[in-house]
Amino acid sequence: MSYLETTHEVYKKAALTPDVGLCCTTNPIWELPGLKIPTIMQQMNYGCGSTVHARDLTNSPKILYVGVGGGMELLQFAYFSRQEKGVIGIDVVDEMLEASRKNFKEAEVQNDWFKSSFVDLKKGDALNIPLDDESIDVAAQNCLFNIFKTEDLKKAIQEMYRVLKPHGRLVMSDPTCEQPMNETLRNDDRLRALCLSGSLPLAEYIKMLTDAGFGTIEIRARKPYRILAPKHYATNEVIYIESVEVAAIKDPMPADGPCIFTGKAAIYFGEDALFDDEKGHILLQNQPLAICDKTAGALATLNRQDIFISESTFHYDGGGCC
Ligand SMILES: C[S@@+](CC[C@H](N)C(=O)[O-])C[C@H]1O[C@@H](n2cnc3c(N)ncnc32)[C@H](O)[C@@H]1O
Repeated sequence: MSYLETTHEVYKKAALTPDVGLCCTTNPIWELPGLKIPTIMQQMNYGCGSTVHARDLTNSPKILYVGVGGGMELLQFAYFSRQEKGVIGIDVVDEMLEASRKNFKEAEVQNDWFKSSFVDLKKGDALNIPLDDESIDVAAQNCLFNIFKTEDLKKAIQEMYRVLKPHGRLVMSDPTCEQPMNETLRNDDRLRALCLSGSLPLAEYIKMLTDAGFGTIEIRARKPYRILAPKHYATNEVIYIESVEVAAIKDPMPADGPCIFTGKAAIYFGEDALFDDEKGHILLQNQPLAICDKTAGALATLNRQDIFISESTFHYDGGGCC
């Protein structure tokens, strides 16, 4: 059986019998005024962060969600889009599509604004998305791409890039890991399917996105996720896994490389009212300006004693230089 078939088997089982310990993170299950998440959707929350951010969802965007799970995030997206087929949900596992379809019926009972027809469920594969080029404003996936091996991950990212409109955004949550993992763990298809042994270091994950052409990357959150300990897993050392929330925006690639926002800011505290780097960044006296890592590097080379550049907070929430 290939690792992709093992993955399908794992999620067939998780569709038929909810597994509350699968994935899951420190994220609260957020509910907004009038938005109620049915218990069954909470039990089938197989993600590792959130991909639903209100600021991505202005102007009635066409939304694509790949790897539907129990449907919780599709319901949260539908809360913002509220239109027939406003959210397209794609999954390769029939049983998962069936389970989420049932869960949307329950969501209708608990949410008077919601209709199942707001979500268009389709059978399909992340590696071959059954949608036209440039037809989507916001694409999302949560805890699926970390399962893919390198060539499949490239393909999955390319597919998202293809279906997004120019300036469209791919919003993701996935585990990442800075430590090397041994081959036994890497080749354990079941652990990979369970989102435990496929994760990449954050910089590699980002590079896969920029290599596909995304010109802007936002790291929105970085949180503790799991430990692989020697007494439970085939490892001699304790391996620490994090989960990240990342948005990759289909902006044109700048000539000097991608803008990657990791939560850095610059503050000018010199004698003048402002500092202008004449490349589009104006630092007002003692006001923070969110900057991408490229700009942080360029400002640092000026060696000024009156510009403070913060460390990455890995919490970038909009605004900024590029
Ligand atoms: C870890 S679960 C995440 C579910 C959901 N995103 C969530 O946050 O609860 C992975 C999901 O991806 C689906 N899946 C697995 N392989 C897939 C593929 N190649 N294409 C599309 N969906 C896939 C599974 O059926 C499952 O629904």
